[in-house]
Amino acid sequence: MSEETITIGWRAPSNIALIKYWGKRANQLPENGSLSITLDKSTTTTYLSFQKKKAGDQNISLRYFFHGVQQSQFEKKTRELLNSLLTEMPFLADYELVFKSENNFPHSTGIASSASSMSALALCLVSMEEKVTGNQLKHEDFYQRGSIIARLGSGSASRSLYGGIVTWGTIPSIDQSSDDYATPFLFPGESRLNRVMDIILIVSSKEKAVSSSKGHALMKAHPYREGRKDQANANMAEITNAIRNNDYQTIALISENEALSLHALLMTSGPEGLLLKPDTLHIIEEIKLFRETSGLDLFYTIDAGPNVHLIYYEDQREQVLSFVRQTLSPYCEGGQWIDDKIGSGPIQMTS
Ligand code: DP6
Repeated sequence: MSEETITIGWRAPSNIALIKYWGKRANQLPENGSLSITLDKSTTTTYLSFQKKKAGDQNISLRYFFHGVQQSQFEKKTRELLNSLLTEMPFLADYELVFKSENNFPHSTGIASSASSMSALALCLVSMEEKVTGNQLKHEDFYQRGSIIARLGSGSASRSLYGGIVTWGTIPSIDQSSDDYATPFLFPGESRLNRVMDIILIVSSKEKAVSSSKGHALMKAHPYREGRKDQANANMAEITNAIRNNDYQTIALISENEALSLHALLMTSGPEGLLLKPDTLHIIEEIKLFRETSGLDLFYTIDAGPNVHLIYYEDQREQVLSFVRQTLSPYCEGGQWIDDKIGSGPIQMTS
């Protein structure tokens, strides 16, 4: 094996779930199926450089730089993930690994970056595997393997391997769907959904009081645990049908129900689960009012935090932008919002 350093790079997007993954079983398997829109502009770019180590040291050897600064927290999390992968990727112990990663969405916006960062990392690992083993995977197999590895890093990251609308979890109406990896959700023909857009309204940029991992753990003994699974399965069946039939009202209804259900589960998990802010509720009220008066097909969704995603269609962009500037931006921290849209998935970087 040569002593040269090889560098691989991937840019991977974040995603926003309409059907929420909330609660997990052993080894990062979801309690329910989830469905998300892959974003376009909110991305992480990660480069992995690797060089063969001298024989003998069988520990994972890595350094992790985020925006040029070495980060011990990222090193710890990545080392844990790579250790857990050693049985199937034994070569990881044979190399000095250096990760250099950057997010292109602004710092301290409270936007979760685990989906984009773990999917970019997973893609780097699968590319490295191809290089060191000389075994070239078929296109579908490459992304499926990436999705499995991304899932082990962060569940929602499994969906960021694909563009468009993506599901993760075994879903009766979707062939080949699995709890192990995500599946691109195909819908027939030309659709307005192919051009859906997302404005992320930053209500608070503070770190969340409850991390997603803690929130998932709290679902284990949650009094509504079984009911939540039934609800998520029913919502999944309804939204996938609605997407196939271009039924925007139902897509909106289910998505908003999922967002509020996630927060109902959080609030009933414990006192720290109240993550919505007064301005989150103001924004929700304004969106409902604007939808009623304008007749537009927009709707909102919210992740496990106070920020609101306003989902709308490209052909309504001008009206929505003026609504956001005039009515919603005063509720945003420092007037801050991110203008994003549906994206086409990860891209490989040339180093
Ligand atoms: C509310 O994927 O961040 O955003 O698997 O512990 O890393 P871990 O959790 P994470 O959970 C995301 C939860 C969610 C809903 C979703 O994206 O489906």
